[in-house]
Amino acid sequence: MVNYKKLGLVNTREMFQKAIEGRYAIPAFNFNNMEQMQAIIQACVETRSPVILQVSSGAREYANQTLLRYMAQGAVEYAKELGVAIPICLHLDHGDSYELCVSCIKMGFSSVMIDGSHLPYAKNVALTRKVVKYAHRYDVTVEGELGVLAGIEEKVSAAKSVYTRPDEVEDFLTKTGVDSLAISIGTSHGANKFRPEQCTRDEHGILIPPPLRFDILEEIERRIPGFPIVLHGASSVPQDKVAVINRYGGKIVDAVGIPEEQLRRAATSAVCKINIDSDGRLAMTAAVREAFATKPAEFDPRKYLGPARKALKELYKHKTTHVLGSAERV
Ligand code: G3H
Ligand code: 13P
Ligand code: ZN
Repeated sequence: MVNYKKLGLVNTREMFQKAIEGRYAIPAFNFNNMEQMQAIIQACVETRSPVILQVSSGAREYANQTLLRYMAQGAVEYAKELGVAIPICLHLDHGDSYELCVSCIKMGFSSVMIDGSHLPYAKNVALTRKVVKYAHRYDVTVEGELGVLAGIEEKVSAAKSVYTRPDEVEDFLTKTGVDSLAISIGTSHGANKFRPEQCTRDEHGILIPPPLRFDILEEIERRIPGFPIVLHGASSVPQDKVAVINRYGGKIVDAVGIPEEQLRRAATSAVCKINIDSDGRLAMTAAVREAFATKPAEFDPRKYLGPARKALKELYKHKTTHVLGSAERV
């Protein structure tokens, strides 16, 4: 058993409290390799933003949980070396079982998500309560979820979103004791968040997605004032990155994300954690494809992973400064 506090990591409690009071959101960036981790830390140190390093169970299988834990520990030291000891949380994204959450907590994670959103309500409550009971013994914070996002949620694919029911949230909080709640108000995982027929098009043929359901968010806030809310599936799918990918041989069709101004609006509410993974994947892929196409003689991975890391860092700095408002909060 390794306690995250010994590693210099923090849980989400104080981060979220400050984010709600300051009307901004903490970035939760997914990572599964060194370049992503470096880009996240460099960006958050340079913009003085707290950060949540997020590990999915897929990432855990890809990179090995022990290595990721040491990378997060390394991230704490790396941030100090870069000059600012920003608060860093190591969070399990979409934990799908009690055993997985326990394993991560024992390994040094400071926060876990137990995603029982696909289960019937009573089963979601029971599973989430069990995880909270274990996690709180070690002062590890827990994120639960109510409502189902469309798209891919950890191997489970939902064709249609099921919005969070505001009349369930108080009961869920009381019965489970969770520290934060992920809700479904129209965001979606991946780079194709909406089918073209759900969208309208602007004069250039760019897809305009249906707006987020701020009415549901407001009703939830009314019922649980000041309680930390989480938005998953919050990538904006930058069209310039999609264009670079497609220019250099990629095939990403009808990709559409959540407009940044809607995320900015959400960040000023009780939404205090915003999850972003797909935008990073697009930024990296665009840079790698461009490097391959424009420098075909290069075969040193640093010559394409280096530009990918730089593009990621710029993307993350943009997020903390212009979207989430978490920059200059440390
Ligand atoms: O919500 C899902 C995250 O984007 C993680 O995706 O399971 O492919 O690592 P992954
Ligand atoms: P995106 O696919 O929109 O980046 O969402 C990521 C996410 O919610 C991770 O849990
Ligand atoms: Zn998610």
